[in-house]
Amino acid sequence: MALSATDLTAGLVVVANRLPVDRVVHHDGSVSWQRSPGGLVTALEPVMRGNDGAWVGWHGGVGETVEPFVDEGLTLVPVPLSTEDVEGYYEGFSNATLWPLYHDVVAPPQFHREWWNSYVRVNQRFANRTAEVAEQDGVVWVQDYQLQLVPAMLRLHRPDLRIGFFLHIPFPPTELFQQLPWRRQILEGLLGADLVGFQLPGGAANFVRLVRARVGHKTHRDTVFLPGGRVVTVAPYPISIDSQGFEQLARRPEAEQRAQEIRADLGNPRTVLLGIDRLDYTKGMPQRLRAFGELISDGKIDVNEAAFVQVATPSRERVGQYQVLRDDIERLVGRLNGSLGRIGRPPITYLHSSYPREEMAALYRAADVMVVTPLRDGMNLVAKEYVACRFTEDGALVLSEFAGAADELRQAYQVNPYDINGLKAALLEAMNASPRELGRRMRAMRRQVADNDIGRWASTFLAELRRVRPPHGKPTRPSSVAS
Ligand code: F6P
Repeated sequence: MALSATDLTAGLVVVANRLPVDRVVHHDGSVSWQRSPGGLVTALEPVMRGNDGAWVGWHGGVGETVEPFVDEGLTLVPVPLSTEDVEGYYEGFSNATLWPLYHDVVAPPQFHREWWNSYVRVNQRFANRTAEVAEQDGVVWVQDYQLQLVPAMLRLHRPDLRIGFFLHIPFPPTELFQQLPWRRQILEGLLGADLVGFQLPGGAANFVRLVRARVGHKTHRDTVFLPGGRVVTVAPYPISIDSQGFEQLARRPEAEQRAQEIRADLGNPRTVLLGIDRLDYTKGMPQRLRAFGELISDGKIDVNEAAFVQVATPSRERVGQYQVLRDDIERLVGRLNGSLGRIGRPPITYLHSSYPREEMAALYRAADVMVVTPLRDGMNLVAKEYVACRFTEDGALVLSEFAGAADELRQAYQVNPYDINGLKAALLEAMNASPRELGRRMRAMRRQVADNDIGRWASTFLAELRRVRPPHGKPTRPSSVAS
């Protein structure tokens, strides 16, 4: 349904690089919409669908202008990207500069001035579109590293708005961030918001420290004082999932039946291990597959008794580092299966594909050990989804210390993913734990995930945004700060 200009405006506007659905043009010219990949959409979609808001974002097509439309009660406002924008802003600056820089430089970030110029141009386009959509005194919530300049650009035109920003990925230590030639512009862009949220306290502290050192503003704990009297609040808000929704999916008889089918197709091994990740070099897939392979060749695991399913969701396929990773993983899986497998028993089932939530829930039900071992990750929602689906209070989660989720899921088998021997020991411990031990750990993690779900995350952030910047009011200082 096409919308008039007044239909478009909303009191709550989310701005994210992608819309929750991607426009796909098929070979025969027909068009369909598919759910977008990634944790951001998984997290925010249920919040926004319940809120009558608008969502400003890229529709995934290149060089196409798509009119705003309503999808299940949510107004979607597409922002067009040209071929040059996709190359410079999305594949370049967002995913070959910022992404590796913010993830501990696990791959070398590339710095190119044309990419930066494109990032500025596209951020301005998002800010302009948002300025048209947001109601007077409305709330705008800008998401993630692709749009760090939007808060300041938006404030310039629409000082009436309450602007929040949330970073879904890690915010790096000051030593790494300082490599960025445009570090000051990024910090100033974020300071356009009234409330800047990070996944973990460490990220928030890094940001405040950098603002003091690089921009020169006064700061006190979680508050930045700008010249002219405006204040910006900085705080951690660990993101979560629709815990109940996932549990309900997992409790359906169809999920149980599908889980049994999956196990049967794998040859009903004693232990099913599972990894589900976007195919990304931050996720630590080679390390975990190598550890599993070594356990087989060491004779610690019998290939007839354990099967590893690795789902690798296609992602950013035109970016060079992702193409190299795909080749590396596929070569590694081929080598491990070739050298360790038996007829009908490949140790690793590798699936380069994305699946709907129903199939994910069945996979979580089928898995005895969930292996989430990123080298660095903002949060990792897969870990939380697994926990939400284990209503039988069994199953083990092997979790990297370097995933944001490790702060909350303390009863997981936590590992340093760079330590292959430690990883092997954790996998064995998880595979051989008693039901009693597994139950104890899973119960505690389930309480955490049930109590801190996505609804709570969003309402906490939005309540704080309304508190630090009441409508028509001056920003308030947090009570902890003496005037
Ligand atoms: O959370 C990180 C993130 O980049 C999100 O912003 C995004 O939704 C997801 O990963 C998937 O990435 P992309 O949109 O590049 O496919």
